[in-house]
Formats: sequence, C-alpha cells, structure tokens
Amino acid sequence: MKEQLQAIRQQALSAVTGTQSTADLETVRVQYLGKKGELTSLLKQMGKLTPEERPVMGQLANEVRAEVESAIEAQSAVLAGKALTEKLEAETLDVSIPGKVLHVGHKHPMYTVLDEIKEIFINMGFEIMDGPEIEQEAYNFTKLNTPADHPAREWSDTFYLDSESKTLLRTQTSPMQIRAMETYGVPIRMISPGRVYRKDEVDATHSPMFHQIEGLVVDKGITMADLKGTLNAVIREIYGLGTVTRFRPHHFPFTEPSCEMDIQCHKCGGVGCPTCKGEGWIEVLGAGMVHPKVLRNCGVDPDVYSGFAFGFGLERLAMGQFKISDLRLIFENDIRFLEQF
Ligand code: PHE
Repeated sequence: MKEQLQAIRQQALSAVTGTQSTADLETVRVQYLGKKGELTSLLKQMGKLTPEERPVMGQLANEVRAEVESAIEAQSAVLAGKALTEKLEAETLDVSIPGKVLHVGHKHPMYTVLDEIKEIFINMGFEIMDGPEIEQEAYNFTKLNTPADHPAREWSDTFYLDSESKTLLRTQTSPMQIRAMETYGVPIRMISPGRVYRKDEVDATHSPMFHQIEGLVVDKGITMADLKGTLNAVIREIYGLGTVTRFRPHHFPFTEPSCEMDIQCHKCGGVGCPTCKGEGWIEVLGAGMVHPKVLRNCGVDPDVYSGFAFGFGLERLAMGQFKISDLRLIFENDIRFLEQF
C-alpha cells in the first residue's frame, strides 16, 4: 500500500504540473482526490491493514493528499497568471495607430437652397406650412377652379390612387392654398414647400417627383404690385441685387391674371447661351392674383379680400444657384456629387 501511495503521489504531481488549463486541472483533481478518485479508493482499503499499519498509512495518505492539494493550488495560480498574460497581450492598445476619420455629412444642396428661401420668407412675416402628398382630387384640382376637362387631370399626366380618380399624388403644392385658407382663414401669409408628382419621363430637366414651394398672401387691398414687389425682393435675395426680372402673361386656372416670372440669364446677361437655351431668360416661377372663385371656395369674400399666389420649382433654383446641369444628379445621391457642396 505504501508503494501504491507513492505511485499515486508521483502520477498526481506530474499530472498537475502538466495541465494547460483550469479545466484540465479540475479533471486531474477529480481523478485523484474526487469521491471516486484514486487516492480515495485506496484509502477505502485501509480496513484490510493491521492496527499497527493503519495510523502510519493514514498519516502518509494525508501527506500525499496535502501535497497534491498544494500542487493543485500552485498550478492554479500559474494557469491564472498565464491566462492574464495572454489576455493582456491580445488586448494591447497601440496608441500610435492613427485615429479613424469620422465622415461628418452635410445638408443636401437642395435643402441648403430651401433653408435659405425659408429664411427669406420668414423674415418677411410668412409662416411655413406642411401638407399631404396624397391629396384629394377636390384640393388638387376642383377647389382650385380647374375645369373637369383640364388636360392636367388626365390619367396620362397624374398618378391617381383609385379608379374613381378621387385620390392622387398631388401634381402641385397649390392645394395648400386651399388648405391654408380653410384651416387658418384670412388674412394669411404662408409658404409651403414639398414634393409633387407628375407622370414625366426622367431626363436632364424632368423627374416624376420634384419639389415646389407654394406661396400665398391674402389680405385687404393686396394688388399685383405686391406680387411683383415681393417676388422681386425674394429673387434679388437669392440671385443678387442686380438681377433683372420680367413678368410674362400666362394662364393658371386658380389665378387671374396669371404670369410667369423670368430672370435674365446670369451666365450670358441676356444675349443667349446654352444655360438659357439661347433665350436670354430663365423661367423661375408661376404666379398670379388668387382667382375670386378660389377665394369663394374657401369661404373668403373676394369683394373684401384679394391676394396673390406663386409656385417655385425648388430643383430649378438649386440648379441655377449651384450651376448643376442635370436634374438627375440632385436625386441620385452619388457621394462624389454631394461632396462638392
Ligand atoms: N401650381 C403651378 C404649377 O405647378 C404654379 C403656380 C402656383 C401658379 C401658384 C400660380 C400660382 O405650375
């Protein structure tokens, strides 16, 4: 039995020092010191010994157990130290590595122009209104005095959302004239920017979705002079004080009289060039005096109140301001394009 104890001691100690992980070490501990371990099994045979041998063997067995236990403890410390070193090595922080560059974006050029325009109108006492892109036919057309047979109402021009042509994607921001007067009454001074939709093929100057800014002023004694004065002031804020403008007669169902506003081409000074397509002038907006029928449709008495309305194309303004030649660039969100602004 003495030899067996010595052998267990030898094997256990070399097994302990050979372990590479705490899990291994635990396996070895169970193998020798566990309930069914080798040392334990040997001690169970103590009964077979003579009374003289028993205390001697008992003492030796305790020595072996204590020795193995302290070896396990020491090895456990060694393994823990090793694990810590490995962890520290794996997690080294190299403070000399250059930092990661964070790309901070910026406003889309079209929104830069929009914010500038909002600012100009806010300074003139206008309010900003937001309205639905899914609109009722009544607001997009009927209440805006658009006759039932008007070509803009055709299925070929307008995205209808139901077979009865009752709901549609608004083709213009002008329905906001109606909504503004219905909701807030008059007098009113507001602009309403937003997306509009038309069945247009995509090319350098067309897109089925684009942005407009609607404007509406209604009060007592508003005349065409207010329209021209206001829009001239706005355009000169945007394009510079020396900008030459002109108003051409036009037709819109919801304004009377109606006009379009042009600016003299800033590239050629009116002589004619590719930017203005040889015209010398660039169209910037549609406008007019609010039609008396439109006022009446909103419960406003046209004998007491009058007003003017206008609609800018936002992409066109951005293209003019930033000298962008193709409308598609504004929507494609190519980072190489956007980074230039
Ligand atoms: N809604 C018109 C268009 O889309 C523009 C406009 C707005 C004209 C307001 C007059 C008054 O072309």
